[in-house]
Amino acid sequence: MLDAPIADQVSVRPARRLRGELTLPGDKSMSHRALLLALLADGESRITGAGDGRDVRATAGVASALGARITREGGDARTVDYQVVSPGRAALVEPAGILDCQNSGTTFRLVAGILAGLPAFGILDGDASLRRRPMGRVAAPLRAMGAVIAGRADATLAPFAITGSAGLRAIEHASPVPSAQVKSCVLLAGLAAAGTTIVREALQTRDHTERMLRARGVQVGTELLADGSAIHTVAGPATVRPLDEHVPGDVSGAAFWLVAAAIHPDADLLIRNVGTNPTRRGIIDLLRRMGADIEERPVGTGAGGASGEPIADLAVRSSSLHGIDVDPAEVAGAIDEIPILCVAAAVASGRSRIRGVGELRNKESDRVAGIVAGLAALGARVRADGDVIEIEGGRALRGVAVASHDDHRLAMAFAVAGLIAVGETLVGQAGAAEVSYPGFFDDLERVRA
Ligand code: S3P
Repeated sequence: MLDAPIADQVSVRPARRLRGELTLPGDKSMSHRALLLALLADGESRITGAGDGRDVRATAGVASALGARITREGGDARTVDYQVVSPGRAALVEPAGILDCQNSGTTFRLVAGILAGLPAFGILDGDASLRRRPMGRVAAPLRAMGAVIAGRADATLAPFAITGSAGLRAIEHASPVPSAQVKSCVLLAGLAAAGTTIVREALQTRDHTERMLRARGVQVGTELLADGSAIHTVAGPATVRPLDEHVPGDVSGAAFWLVAAAIHPDADLLIRNVGTNPTRRGIIDLLRRMGADIEERPVGTGAGGASGEPIADLAVRSSSLHGIDVDPAEVAGAIDEIPILCVAAAVASGRSRIRGVGELRNKESDRVAGIVAGLAALGARVRADGDVIEIEGGRALRGVAVASHDDHRLAMAFAVAGLIAVGETLVGQAGAAEVSYPGFFDDLERVRA
């Protein structure tokens, strides 16, 4: 699937109806972590249902450059099963070449945390988008722990050259931004530090790293405070045990179908085996608050892999949506779904206000600018003011050419808008969808058939 190129520009026409069942790529965040924790563990780990997008492939490439033997075993068009055999953290190899994280911020930031704790030298780099993204947020804590990091603009931008150390200092770090990548980076470095490493975050972010480390025998503590902030600890030095993991379907991919069906007048979709982790399911609850008809059918306990992630089938039908206010804590719990939420808000009746969207400017593209420009071109009334996006819904969308800025989530969000816009929507840089959702445009064709 990945090897069949997608035209740079894809034409999407309105669908008469949307029907069918969808099986998603494995969750991207969990797939990265399953590979990297298998790299740190001495022995064999099997990962089933991993996402097979370009980002996760980049992580697999980096993990093998660091000494893991990784075999692709099976899977389907959207997922892949991996066997990972690693000598464990203490015996990883110094990478011979540059570690190419491609478009993947998660790969860059998590691997930076791992490299910091190795007595080795490694260079991390990525594509043009990754080189624009803020990396000082991981360089600062890793330097405080004792890693030596050189990088552009005093290690605020990639590429990074990291000289790590097996004896890092445990630190207490207050993350300046709500970021699971920063939290995970510091916790992974904390595995190589003597003592307790502490990460404070002002708003709770996705907790896959904490869950997956615990399942692999590492002592990780989490305290959730009444003001919505969280404190995480890891006791180091720590050994990660190998473990088989099953990765559920990516709720961030499901979001496109939830919105597609909710805004379409004749839709009935069933999305199978979606991960509904409480720190990730924000989009389901926000859409329900807008009036979306989403039925959640939990899939038996135990199905959620070694880390105990909850899983559900989601049935979604045509709905009549109304605008809502979304606060910054809710944005943190649906950070990757804000572009597609904006599409829903553009179609909903009334006004939506989404506060606390500043971090979206630091994603694969400036998603605030991209979603505002694209939706405005499609005829929506939308504006951004600082950290707030405001949308006056209820205008009919009309198809035009929209730029995705090589950003997978924008490409898919505009394609969904195209299913209800009048006329032809031309989604620019549509191939970017392969970053997280291989086969997205095949699924789009299938559900409209
Ligand atoms: C991710 C965390 C989020 C998210 C990204 C994946 C992760 O980024 O946007 O797509 O897997 O940890 P930040 O933690 O930088 O907000």
